[in-house]
Amino acid sequence: MSAADSRDRFLALLAAAVHDGTLVKLTLGKHRGADATLENIFVRPVTLKAGPHLSFTWRHATRDIIKNHAPDAALALLGPHIGGDFLDAHLFTPAQTAQLENRADGTARLSIKMAANAPAPAVEHHDRAKDHLVPADAPWLRALGVTNDHGQPREGMAGKFRQIQKFTELLAHLLVEAGLLPADADAPFTLADMGCGKGYLTFALAAHLGARASVTGVEARPELVALCNRIAGDNHLANLRFAAGDIASTPLADVGALVALHACDTATDDALAKGLVAGARLLVVSPCCQKELRPQLAAPAVLADALSHGIFQERQAEFVTDALRAMLLEWAGYRTKVIEFISTEHTAKNLMLAAIKTTPSPGGTRDPGSALAGRIRAFAAFYGIRRQRLAEHLGFSLTA
Ligand SMILES: C[S@@+](CC[C@H](N)C(=O)[O-])C[C@H]1O[C@@H](n2cnc3c(N)ncnc32)[C@H](O)[C@@H]1O
Repeated sequence: MSAADSRDRFLALLAAAVHDGTLVKLTLGKHRGADATLENIFVRPVTLKAGPHLSFTWRHATRDIIKNHAPDAALALLGPHIGGDFLDAHLFTPAQTAQLENRADGTARLSIKMAANAPAPAVEHHDRAKDHLVPADAPWLRALGVTNDHGQPREGMAGKFRQIQKFTELLAHLLVEAGLLPADADAPFTLADMGCGKGYLTFALAAHLGARASVTGVEARPELVALCNRIAGDNHLANLRFAAGDIASTPLADVGALVALHACDTATDDALAKGLVAGARLLVVSPCCQKELRPQLAAPAVLADALSHGIFQERQAEFVTDALRAMLLEWAGYRTKVIEFISTEHTAKNLMLAAIKTTPSPGGTRDPGSALAGRIRAFAAFYGIRRQRLAEHLGFSLTA
């Protein structure tokens, strides 16, 4: 990536964090400008009577100067400094840390680290109670039974409430990375949530994205679909609909992003395959109940004692299944990340595979003779795996 591309990418991440309300802080360092007393600029979100603002601390050698700016004015002000008279910029959000390093020779490096358990944005509210990316007083959260009449999580729902916030923040960032955001309301992209259950996360995404996306939840249980459609209608969420059906047989076309969270066992593979066929730019799954490979797993002798314990067998099945999925997605032309999206204190089911399309057309890199294909087959052979659902969907032979 050229220095200009790295800088543009960093500025896009910053703009997305500011607009999504996920900015925790921005730090500019290594000042090389005309004012020799200026050392850093620190930026953090604040909420004033006039609405969300960014508070700038201009740190000079002997004093700090603090000024607040409205979001767009703040972004315009920061643009020339980033990669200009400040060589280093760090952007912190709950989901990731991005660092832009500019070197004296004119090159630049952008590194992005996904955070496992980063803190939530510490927005300082001078005038009102704490905001969330998904507002706690959203009527649909109350209708779904997550919050009470006072806009607070109901008893037993605090973990679900945090999960909804974290997931929405994470997806907002991934959609930017996949090039689906910023999106314009005149050309909304389509997002499908496969096996959406009661639709907590589907509602959160639809409400957050508004007219920028048309969101569909697919769910096998018709009673949940009817409930979700009623709540979506009551809340005038015109960009959201729910359809009853099976993941594998529900037709999807022109899907920009596909998510499937906690779709059991091979339903995750069926969802991934749907997204691959539809050419989705972003696939996000949080697998669970990885049963398919357990009967096939033949551990090498050196692991036999360890795997005499059921819990280790179960974890190995999870690891082998999800590692194989990640490799197959790479083979299918997607850059794949494996992340934990919320702390394990809320749920053990927090592993997430996020895959961003890297080829212009689906199938562009699917060479059965590639080095990666060979490594996938070696991995499968090591664990005695001959068949796996996603491999079958892709027409990838694990044994050839
Ligand atoms: C554990 S729940 C997760 C719900 C939601 N995605 C979440 O994370 O909050 C799994 C949901 O997927 C649905 N499901 C599982 N297999 C499915 C399939 N093959 N087709 C459609 N829905 C499916 C189940 O009915 C259930 O509601």
